[in-house]
Amino acid sequence: MSYARKPRTERETALVERANRLIPTGLRSTSIRNELMFVVERALGARLWDASGNEYVDYLLGSGPMVLGHAHPAVVSAVRERLAGGTTYLILSEPPLELAQRIVELVPCAEQVLFQCSGTDATGYAVRIARAATGRTKVLKFEGAYHGMGEWSLMSNQWTHELADYPRAVPNSDGIPASVRGLTLIAPWNDLDAAVRIIEENHDDLACVIVEPLQRTFPPRPGFLAGLRDVTRALDIPFVFDEVVTGFRLALGGAQERYGVVPDLCALGKSISGGHPIGVLCGAERYMRFANPLRRFAGEPYVMASGTFSANPISATAGLACLAELEKPGVYERIQATGQRLMEGLRAAFDEVAIPVQVTGEPSCFEAWFTDQPVYDHRSSLAADVFKRMRFTELLLEHGVVKAHEKFFVSAAHGEGEIEHTLWAFRAAARALAADDEDTPCECW
Ligand SMILES: Cc1ncc(COP(=O)(O)O)c(C=O)c1O
Repeated sequence: MSYARKPRTERETALVERANRLIPTGLRSTSIRNELMFVVERALGARLWDASGNEYVDYLLGSGPMVLGHAHPAVVSAVRERLAGGTTYLILSEPPLELAQRIVELVPCAEQVLFQCSGTDATGYAVRIARAATGRTKVLKFEGAYHGMGEWSLMSNQWTHELADYPRAVPNSDGIPASVRGLTLIAPWNDLDAAVRIIEENHDDLACVIVEPLQRTFPPRPGFLAGLRDVTRALDIPFVFDEVVTGFRLALGGAQERYGVVPDLCALGKSISGGHPIGVLCGAERYMRFANPLRRFAGEPYVMASGTFSANPISATAGLACLAELEKPGVYERIQATGQRLMEGLRAAFDEVAIPVQVTGEPSCFEAWFTDQPVYDHRSSLAADVFKRMRFTELLLEHGVVKAHEKFFVSAAHGEGEIEHTLWAFRAAARALAADDEDTPCECW
């Protein structure tokens, strides 16, 4: 097997230069160096093509949403048909109503549903509803978890290198008022005793506890989510699952089905709409009803929840087509089997060159950490060699495989050809990393 990545054409170079001039983030939407990044020309199934004609196997999948692969024919044809009827009305139409019905049928905690445009919106409304329902203001999240770009949530996420004593939050961005920092409390993922202690000590102020049930690629330890469920129930604190990644990716019922724990509220996005902008907050009627505008006229606590493109008929149509595909027998089993082969192939490639690696996550969403120590949360992941990880991501790119800096997403469209190519790229990247190690002078001489 071979793969020779073509250099950037003049046209793509011009596009990159224009991007860097016009858009402050440029091409830096992943952590891959600008010199190696590319402009996407098109995508189909599990493959991407760049503007210089290079073809890649895609495990970035638009940061997760393309669980069926790109441009799935059933989604494309449903959307195409719907487009002729107009694209947005503000007034409710049938596709979002039908999608709400399917969510209530499939997601264990869902009794009612609110639509937004992004995962950030969905987690933001979860927090606002929790605050209105409890009259309390603080949010407890876990170190290393990501819940979108809201001010309360851009704290101690996966890009945090400064470690503070729990439960003190470390902001991940400037431009967030200092007063917001104290409203977010941080607990260690997978340490139930420490988390329960922080929750009990702060329960008078806690509006909610929010988790990514599979935190990035760190699965919950047995009993961890159930323990959080117990303590939040006992103290009457809304328990929120951020299933923006795990929803419709781990299973039709998401992490709630996979791990057998049912929260009060759940944020969804990404995989639910076959690659169209969406956010969904669903959950127990006891909390969701705070968004009913009639409460305002009755003088009851009320959360305003609206948006120009919310309940968008195109995204909902794509969502319905996507769910119909995901419900076909064998889809999740196929994704699971593909992911398992890739995880095993990754381990084997590095075993062969004697580079210690930990592969964490679930088959549909996993990552490699270069360390011989166990990795189970954000702090333990910091022991891994971050430069090796970045170099691995870049070596894969040079061998025609695209992944996010922090994980591989697997789709139902990854087939035998893509798997074989990826396993070959793993071995080639492992050999190159081993050669790098040989070139590095040993510190003991
Ligand atoms: C777990 C999780 N929650 C929330 C979000 C935010 O979603 P969006 O980018 O659609 O705002 C993301 C995005 O990556 C996510 O991974």
